[in-house]
Amino acid sequence: MFQLTRSVTWQALQGLQQQTADDRIRDYFAADPKRFEKMSLRVGGLFLDYSKQPVSEAVLAKLIELADHSALVQRRAQMFSGDIINVTENRPVLHTALRNLGEGPLMVDGQDVMPEIQRTREQIRAFSEAVRSGAWTGFDGQRIRDVVNIGIGGSDLGPNMACRALLKHRHPELNFHFVSNVDGAHIQKVLSRLDPATTLFIVSTKTFSTQETLLNAHTARRWFLDNAGPEADVGAHFIAASTNKAAAMEFGIREENVFEFWAWVGGRYSMWSSIGLPIALAIGFEGFMAMIEGAYEMDQHFLSAPTAANMPVLMALIGIWHINFQGAETQAIVPYDQALHQLPAFLQQLDMESNGKSVDIFGRPVDYKTGPIVWGQTGSNGQHAFFQLLHQGTRYVPIDFIASLKPEPGMEDHHFALLTNMLAQANAFMEGSAEGGELDPYSCPGNRPSSTLLLDELTPKNLGALIALYEHKVFVQGVIWNINSFDQWGVQLGKRIAGEISERLDAHSQDFDASTQGLLALVRGHFVS
Ligand code: F6P
Repeated sequence: MFQLTRSVTWQALQGLQQQTADDRIRDYFAADPKRFEKMSLRVGGLFLDYSKQPVSEAVLAKLIELADHSALVQRRAQMFSGDIINVTENRPVLHTALRNLGEGPLMVDGQDVMPEIQRTREQIRAFSEAVRSGAWTGFDGQRIRDVVNIGIGGSDLGPNMACRALLKHRHPELNFHFVSNVDGAHIQKVLSRLDPATTLFIVSTKTFSTQETLLNAHTARRWFLDNAGPEADVGAHFIAASTNKAAAMEFGIREENVFEFWAWVGGRYSMWSSIGLPIALAIGFEGFMAMIEGAYEMDQHFLSAPTAANMPVLMALIGIWHINFQGAETQAIVPYDQALHQLPAFLQQLDMESNGKSVDIFGRPVDYKTGPIVWGQTGSNGQHAFFQLLHQGTRYVPIDFIASLKPEPGMEDHHFALLTNMLAQANAFMEGSAEGGELDPYSCPGNRPSSTLLLDELTPKNLGALIALYEHKVFVQGVIWNINSFDQWGVQLGKRIAGEISERLDAHSQDFDASTQGLLALVRGHFVS
């Protein structure tokens, strides 16, 4: 059976790693004045510069060969056409269908899924327009002023990140709140500022069975009933985005207010489905569709561009170079854009829940590293927090810098400082400090890798393209590593044990390890009378 690490290309890459170990990235620029032009590309409103990565032309050529010799072409076609590529859960993976703007059917299990997608889109349009215009009213006839999304993981991070990123496009009379943590402090703080008569709750949960979300939803409903008075009408204030219509209706949500989606939409890929409803409410249905359009254009690019000019494939290959050949353990995401402050958290789930796997699609242990630890925060804040380690620490940390070019009117000076700081950092990471020369122990060594992604402007469309770009990067890496990027058994294990522990709180269970039993005894004292 094929073994990735025994393949000729993999071994050639190992050889190239040794040959280029002492190379300096800056010397690549000196040797090739056209390096920036060669190692940068544009897709729609996104521009990627990967010339400051430690890849020589020979390395890049081999990485491209790695992709070309992988199952990428086949698996990509399978994903887009609805084949079962989530093999452990026996499902297709069709978030791309949610943003399909092309004509023609898409058959899953002998049924065209496009009419259902369009019907739900229409439901989102009608509902978001009614709330935004004030036509949708609460139990006492007042319009909605606050929207609370209750969800966690993929049912929170995507819409949460997008609503914050696109804040300046938001409806001026609507406020958005996202409650995810099972810690009661989270929902308590949000509810303390709200008026039940003008608040709409969206219970966002694919399964309608996630403990955190259900607990928060029940607390919100209790608060609503306690505070709204005798006219309280749960149906006018609670709606759901879920694949589990029956459970949502049992909760008290009206059938017509359950915004459905389907098992073939993975949680962390679900912001294009009804889970994106808060986005449509915040920026309007046209804005939501513009995001979808941006993602669709990235999908088309991913499907058709040759490997050497395919943005998600190139980003995936550079990541593989870092992880499998250069020994990187982490990937830093540093948006120089305050509106994108939730992007690292979103990408953390997207990447780590998808590619945090150590067996291949046949269940065999892999003998190579897979997904990186993804982390980060906004620049320029990061410069004054963790950049020191990146400049002079002992670790090798690739960085993705992300920024949008267009300044806010009246804030040109801030924006100029923001962008120049980012460029200065990327330059310093590569060049290091020359002052004291290489013999100065306090000089910065440089030769540290980064890519720079520039958005012409942070519009809904460009944000959609940016998210799709990372989704496909993660997918390509999963294909090359031959893992299933679409299951999450580790998360399921945690969910199961949390259920077991809470069921046995009052019994002296010997089923758990001594530490868990000891800690449980301390917890028990506060809950069992
Ligand atoms: O984090 C694991 C996970 O299963 C995610 O994939 C999902 O987004 C999240 O839990 C929430 O699940 P649900 O949408 O069913 O409440």
